[in-house]
Amino acid sequence: MKRFNSTILNLTVNIIDFLYKGRDYQRFWVLEEIARAPYFAFLSVLHLRESMGLRGPEHIYLMEEHFAQTLNETEHLEYMESRGGNAYWVDRAFARHLVLIYYWINVVYYWVAPRSAYDLSYGVELHAAETYNKFLYDHDDKRIEEIMQDEINHAEELHNAMEMIK
Ligand SMILES: [Fe+2]
Ligand SMILES: [Fe+2]
Repeated sequence: MKRFNSTILNLTVNIIDFLYKGRDYQRFWVLEEIARAPYFAFLSVLHLRESMGLRGPEHIYLMEEHFAQTLNETEHLEYMESRGGNAYWVDRAFARHLVLIYYWINVVYYWVAPRSAYDLSYGVELHAAETYNKFLYDHDDKRIEEIMQDEINHAEELHNAMEMIK
């Protein structure tokens, strides 16, 4: 499943990188819009599992963690919006269609194979940190530095969650 995750991730990232060449904040906005979806999907599934009497010992910890992550991603999104990342309808339309598909993929994936779903998001978070790191080579943006650190933290948190549900 790891190989499947990285193939899908690399393909998607290459397409987005190609389409958004030279439009950094628009690309970041699309990535942040998409980045929020898995956390909301994880929360949806955990909520449903709870309603069906399937609450495990790690349940409350995971709910709190994923809620904090989704809010943090919204803060990232707001920053990209303040830099004009969502100024054009074509970017908004692209991201909003993609996020709908990505949300439902994550709902199903997390329901049937939670560790693999975490692994996919782990890869996405590492890619996000790498993307911001590359940007910082030739741009000075303190907020992007903080956001990059947040993405590294998200990756670590996902790794911990993965270990927790072994
Ligand atoms: Fe983010
Ligand atoms: Fe993140």
